[in-house]
This record gives sequence, structure tokens and C-alpha cells, in this order.
Amino acid sequence: MIYITGDTHGNHDTSKLFLKSFPDGKSLSMDDYVIITGDFGGIWYGDKRDDATLEFYEEKKYMVLFVDGNHENFDALNKYPISEWNGGKVHKIRDNIFHLMRGQVFEIDSKKFFTFGGGVSIDKAMRMPYVSWWPQEEASYEEINEALDNLEKHKNKVDYVITHAAPESIVRNELCQIHTLMKVDCATEKFLNEIYHNLEFKMWFCGHYHMDAWIKSCKMQVLYHQIVKLAPGYPIASRRIF
Ligand SMILES: [Fe+2]
Repeated sequence: MIYITGDTHGNHDTSKLFLKSFPDGKSLSMDDYVIITGDFGGIWYGDKRDDATLEFYEEKKYMVLFVDGNHENFDALNKYPISEWNGGKVHKIRDNIFHLMRGQVFEIDSKKFFTFGGGVSIDKAMRMPYVSWWPQEEASYEEINEALDNLEKHKNKVDYVITHAAPESIVRNELCQIHTLMKVDCATEKFLNEIYHNLEFKMWFCGHYHMDAWIKSCKMQVLYHQIVKLAPGYPIASRRIF
């Protein structure tokens, strides 16, 4: 089974709460997956202080997968070895914790997933470069090209899309109607907007906006506290308590 949730901004305490509010987790195996739609945050300090969070997830009996958000320490994240897994590239953090890299198409549970993390930090002016903010948060030219190449190989058709940000037009129209959002220029949102109109997919899941919203007309599920089970009807499996 595959579960998907929004930003965890991981630290040991919030991770503990996450699991407390995820009762299904107790019955899962290594054939099950929990996907976090960015701002994983479990690799933040780049030193021993990350260990408690990673060890906590490592003890779980299922796979923890995440795309990167904007709040990640990209210098530390990019130091992990790159491996091929299920058709795409991952940073292997632990045996059961993988970072799904940008622009990849993975086959998970016989379904195709396109992944593209990243986004813009609206508070970056208040953050310190390479300490609490990293310019790699935004999509690069190389990542965009790799994504387009990989999508072409799959004839621009996947089952699911997992991103941190959402396509720009959806942010500025549908999401802004639900929630007051600051309109910022985001290269990642612009790129996602481009592929949104050319890609065949069943459902798109993203995080980033710290809201839970289902936009049926766009086949878009924006996640924050909700944990959805990827099953017919997309039932909400649980609601995180932080
Ligand atoms: Fe976030």
C-alpha cells in the first residue's frame, strides 16, 4: 500500500507525533510506502543532530520516500550516494529511507510516479544562505531537461505526480481562492505549469502550501496534515496531529 502526506519539517519530536497519528503504520511491511511531498527536514543540520530523526524512521518496517521541498539542507542531502531504484535516481539515506530525486519516473507497486521536488522559500530574505536557506531549492536547467527527457521516454504519461510545489496557474487561481497566499515568482511552479498541460496523469499530489485541499477539476491533492491512502476513492487514512 502507498500512503502520501505533506510537509513533515522533520525533527525527532514531530516525527514521533506523525507516527502516533498514523495507526496504519503498525501493520505495514517493507512492501508498503509512505511518501512525503517535500520539506522532509530530516537532513537539516548535516551532522550527528540529524541522527535521531533518521534513526526513528529507520526503525519503521516500511519504506519512507520523500521528494525534497524548499526547506532542506541541500548541501547535506546531495552528499548521500545516488542509486538507481525502480527506474529512477534516489539518494539512499538509509535502507528504508530514499530521497526521490527531481525529474525521475519510478515504478512503485506497478504504478508510474513522476517526481519533482523544490520550490521557493517566501521567507528567504530572513534566512542565511547555506545555513538556513539553499539556492538549490529551485529547479535548475539541468533538472528540468532531465525531467523532460524522462517524461518523453514514458510518452508523457504516468499514473501519479509527486511534487512539493504546484503548477503556477493552480497556485494563482484555485489555491488563492481557498487560502491567502503570497504571490512569488517561482521557477519550479512555472516549470510544473508547463508539464501540467502536457502530461497525462491520474492524480497529482503536492505539499508546500501548508493546507489540505482537494481540487477535483485539476486532479490535484494538496497535502499538509492529511495522510491519504492511494486506493480507489483516495480515502483519507489519517490526519496528523501536528
Ligand atoms: Fe513547508
